[in-house]
Amino acid sequence: MNKQLLILGGTTEAYALAEALALRDDLRVITSLAGRTAQPRIPAGEWRSGGFGGVAGLTTYLREQRIDAVIDATHPFAAAMTWNALESCAAAEVPLLRLERPAWIAAPEDRWELVTDWAEARAALITNGAQRVLLAVGRQELAPFTELPDIWLLIRVVTAPDPLLHFPASQILLARGPFDLAGERELFTAHNIDTIVCKNSGGDATAAKLIVARERNLHVIMRQRPPRPAQELAITVAESIHWLNRQLAT
Ligand SMILES: NC(=O)c1ccc[n+]([C@@H]2O[C@H](COP(=O)([O-])OP(=O)(O)OC[C@H]3O[C@@H](n4cnc5c(N)ncnc54)[C@H](OP(=O)(O)O)[C@@H]3O)[C@@H](O)[C@H]2O)c1
Repeated sequence: MNKQLLILGGTTEAYALAEALALRDDLRVITSLAGRTAQPRIPAGEWRSGGFGGVAGLTTYLREQRIDAVIDATHPFAAAMTWNALESCAAAEVPLLRLERPAWIAAPEDRWELVTDWAEARAALITNGAQRVLLAVGRQELAPFTELPDIWLLIRVVTAPDPLLHFPASQILLARGPFDLAGERELFTAHNIDTIVCKNSGGDATAAKLIVARERNLHVIMRQRPPRPAQELAITVAESIHWLNRQLAT
């Protein structure tokens, strides 16, 4: 009988992993999406959508679906899912791997201010006298940045925020990465950006903005990743497939 792999998805890496494994005839590959996006990109292989109902729900799912291995490839900021996966896999005795792209690291010449939440980021904007800000925090995390006095925001989101919050001085830019360096330079010039607010997602797709900030000596307010459990970790799709092959061989 085929072995069953559950990928906890929502990231580029999760899609790439499903793509690489879906055609294997020794595997059934199921990607789980959180269901936040109305029209999500469809992964290769099978997929499901929506929360499991906490640790208990995921544990039941793993048992009922007879899952043989789980690869948690959720976003570095989707910490709740990662902690749940750890607990559920332990309870259901299913091997678990975390696939997580490395965080970006500041170069010596970078002007990053590290923050642990958006309230700190908001306060830093005011303290630093930011005036024209690229806000790249995700459409569900905009609320702390409403009513900022005397600060103009370029709010870059993949899909429109719903509900639309009130920003006194702003422009919404609907755009999906990857973003290249030439395009980012043009954008920063066109809007005269002096500060970026973003989270340390890592990866290449959205890193060009940080290079522009370095070139222009701009301020970056960088939200740090949330605390993570100590667990088996891969940083590439290839490493994850090696891990999976070892699990399936035992
Ligand atoms: N946070 C980000 O910045 C970000 C960026 C890009 C993509 N994403 C993706 O968007 C999804 C949601 O992110 P989040 O930050 O809201 O996550 P989160 O805070 O870690 O998760 C909250 C709840 O959403 C459900 N959930 C999350 N990921 C799921 C998945 N892959 N399949 C099924 N249920 C899932 C779980 O509900 P139950 O407890 O009911 O199981 C989880 O407890 C994740 O899949 C993540 O990979 C997040």
